[in-house]
Amino acid sequence: MKNIACIEDLRHVARRRVPKAFWDYVEAGSYTEGTLRRNREDLLDVKLRQRILIDVDKRDTSTTMLGEKVSVPVALAPIGICGMVHGDGEILACRAAQAAGIPFTLSTMSICSIEDVAEAVDKPFWFQVYVIRDRGFMKSLIERAYAAKCSALVLTVDLQILGQRHCDIRNGMTVPPEMRLANVLDIATKPAWAWNILKGKRKTFGNLAGHVKGMEGITSLAQWTAQQFDPTLNWRDIEWVKSIWPGKLILKGIMDVEDARIAAQSGADAIVCSNHGGRQLDGAASSISMLPKLVDAVGDDVEVLFDGGIRTGMDVERAIALGAKGCLIGRSFVYGLGAYGQAGVTKAIEIIRKELDVTMALTGVASIAQIGPNVLLEPPFVQKKPAKKRAPRAKKTTLKPAAKPN
Ligand SMILES: Cc1cc2nc3c(=O)[nH]c(=O)nc-3n(C[C@H](O)[C@H](O)[C@H](O)COP(=O)(O)O)c2cc1C
Repeated sequence: MKNIACIEDLRHVARRRVPKAFWDYVEAGSYTEGTLRRNREDLLDVKLRQRILIDVDKRDTSTTMLGEKVSVPVALAPIGICGMVHGDGEILACRAAQAAGIPFTLSTMSICSIEDVAEAVDKPFWFQVYVIRDRGFMKSLIERAYAAKCSALVLTVDLQILGQRHCDIRNGMTVPPEMRLANVLDIATKPAWAWNILKGKRKTFGNLAGHVKGMEGITSLAQWTAQQFDPTLNWRDIEWVKSIWPGKLILKGIMDVEDARIAAQSGADAIVCSNHGGRQLDGAASSISMLPKLVDAVGDDVEVLFDGGIRTGMDVERAIALGAKGCLIGRSFVYGLGAYGQAGVTKAIEIIRKELDVTMALTGVASIAQIGPNVLLEPPFVQKKPAKKRAPRAKKTTLKPAAKPN
């Protein structure tokens, strides 16, 4: 791993090791992938201000997220089927996050169950839940998270219906993978992956298997999942979740100023400005371009977290400068996991932490609290004011030739 210098390097290694169907599942955005691309492009457009001759010898990247001390303002985002990128992927990623002093979020759609992860790690983690049609099952999931001492519930609110990823259809993407000839041949070239999946605790959705009545078969579980996302999801559901979850609540998937204002009044402790990593509404704005607007709308009522396109520590500083209290990273840590398991996730976190540290120094700040609009060259994403209307020009008068003297 000593030649790994950046997240992109981890991505290259992971691409070679993870079977195509799962790799594409990780990389893809919905439909034309326009929003996926925009997330990265707009982050890169946020220009940092290069400062000099400021004493930045003693720097500190630590801060808090939801009152929890973190070594760097980053948490691992909920990622469905992490345990198919690497056997026991959720446990390994959680261990790496906790050793690095940052939160890990377990997805409802994980391979290892809440209980598997809780047993295998020392500290509490965050649990992400979708609002699903079977409210009884959802309630039992939340109760299981509480019993496992999860320290925050992340309620994902932008998946009331599933955005399509074309590659998942083309690849016959199921859990476990559909045994198409192409998938079998591909897996045959990835023996290390196959071995660690075989060794892993589970091969299907750990939070659902054995807990959903009459749905023991793997295919029926997958069908059940697809049917369970609930388009009736509305603000009253948040009240209901609050009534059964006494801990900290994070609403993930807010991209609109009006929604942010309502969310701030809903009793949530934090919101995540997120478009699901470009996997839901294709055509939505990039999440970084909405971040300052949401921060402005909610003031100090809730913490605003951010995700979408973070691949470097420079990106973390950009998001903090635009008002985020912390960032979630998705693909960046999955690349590490696919490349080298737990050590790869540790590497991904360390790369981002080091890059943030250097970026802080070069922008003249020594602590996270000092990062604000002061580190930006110019305020980005400011709505261009309509050009002032000019007074209508006097009509061109064609000079008549002077009348010729007679
Ligand atoms: C492979 C993959 C699976 C995901 N699964 C979930 C999930 O189960 N629940 C959820 O709330 N978000 C899920 N997300 C969205 C992430 O939590 C996060 O919002 C997104 O990855 C951030 O963008 P980034 O990958 O560019 O960092 C998933 C994203 C990816 C890439």
